[in-house]
Amino acid sequence: MKTGNGKGSIWVVTDPAYGDNGKGRIVDFLTAKEEVAAVVRWQGGANAGHEIVVGDVSIDVHCLPSGFVRAKDRQILNVMGRGMVVSLPVLFAEIDKLRQLGIPITPKNLLISNGLHLTLPYHLALEQARESGSEKKGTTKRAISQTYGFGRMYMGIRMGNLKKIDEVRKLIQEPLAYANAILEKVYAADTVSEEVVMTEIEEYREAVIPFLGDEVVALNHLVREKNETVLCEGAQSGLLGIDLGIYPYSTASNTWPGSIQQGCGLDPRLISRNILVIKSYLTRVGPSPMPTEMNSATAELIRERGHEYGVTTKRPRRIGWPDSMIGHYCAMVGPGTELAINKSDVLTGIPDLYLGTGYRKNGTTIDSIPTIISELEGAKPILKKFPGWKQDITGVTSWDDLPEQLQNFLREIAKPYGCPISYVGTGAERSQIIDLV
Ligand code: IMP
Repeated sequence: MKTGNGKGSIWVVTDPAYGDNGKGRIVDFLTAKEEVAAVVRWQGGANAGHEIVVGDVSIDVHCLPSGFVRAKDRQILNVMGRGMVVSLPVLFAEIDKLRQLGIPITPKNLLISNGLHLTLPYHLALEQARESGSEKKGTTKRAISQTYGFGRMYMGIRMGNLKKIDEVRKLIQEPLAYANAILEKVYAADTVSEEVVMTEIEEYREAVIPFLGDEVVALNHLVREKNETVLCEGAQSGLLGIDLGIYPYSTASNTWPGSIQQGCGLDPRLISRNILVIKSYLTRVGPSPMPTEMNSATAELIRERGHEYGVTTKRPRRIGWPDSMIGHYCAMVGPGTELAINKSDVLTGIPDLYLGTGYRKNGTTIDSIPTIISELEGAKPILKKFPGWKQDITGVTSWDDLPEQLQNFLREIAKPYGCPISYVGTGAERSQIIDLV
């Protein structure tokens, strides 16, 4: 049993682009390290889809931290911070699914923040209504923005409220009336009854209470008193962040590493590693401009080979060339200490590869990713061509065994991020990775 390494710190795993770049597999890889005592998710909810392949088994986690995948091998505390939003039926369906795979989930290895906001049936009804209409944003339909929105209007129900059922009954009155008025008047949709909301809460209340606690105290105890390492598992990605992403086609939480402070009460100054996870190409689910998007047979090939379909929604992902503009933006907003680049094996055999080096619109160059979406719409990429390689690299575990063309392509992708490459994924399986640390 480990008692501390004399230097508590925080590692963060984030994705600067549009998500789906393999954060789950990197978190899984890092949780094998002895110093990692806890994995915490601090934002987002079941809109995330982290897929980890262990041998023949592919394990999907949506709202639970990926640290559970190692729960059979070692004791790791998995924490859901107050910056997350979660629906009780979805949470318990996921707990049951992992338990069926033989993964133990108990109050000893799962801590859910008292402050985490609940997604309730009226949030889902509102999301359904909006996403069925002309103002839809192409969300994952998990009512993420509705839950955060009600929370910001002081109409949220938080996990800790569940301890007192009479308090919950009182608290839901205002948001329920508000939601029903919008459902009726704005969307001409069916309203939600108090009974439906309370039945759902009462069904799961007793099961969830043993997991509740104060994650701020627990995590700070680990880092500051026990000198342990806490691994913060980002969900979605930088460009999907609400304030520093491509609004309004973003998710509703803050996603960059500094937001761990609001999401679980950890001090971002204690971050010693921010591992940026990207792919050697780009993908995006949902609408919004994507200047390096390809619409070609190559995109189709990459989608099929790379299984580029959403883990949560199964939607086909849009495919693009890697984009240095994202790297430059990331180097300002949430610089990494290192990069993990996944899925280069998918590009094997493609003769010409491209890297986006900038954008142009109406004859002028765009210097940085614009804040207002209409300024990004219609932007064309400036592309630089690179030669591909033919040699199969699946499962390669040494940098020196990679073809020179791929080494060069990876170095060029990494340049704007301004940090070294620590990991290169060479296949979906856990062991198919080059570890340069
Ligand atoms: P929401 O987070 O479900 O509200 O969706 C808002 C936008 O974020 C949509 O474009 C989604 O497709 C996208 N999104 C949300 N979660 C993920 C994710 O984990 N990976 C990739 N895209 C996501």
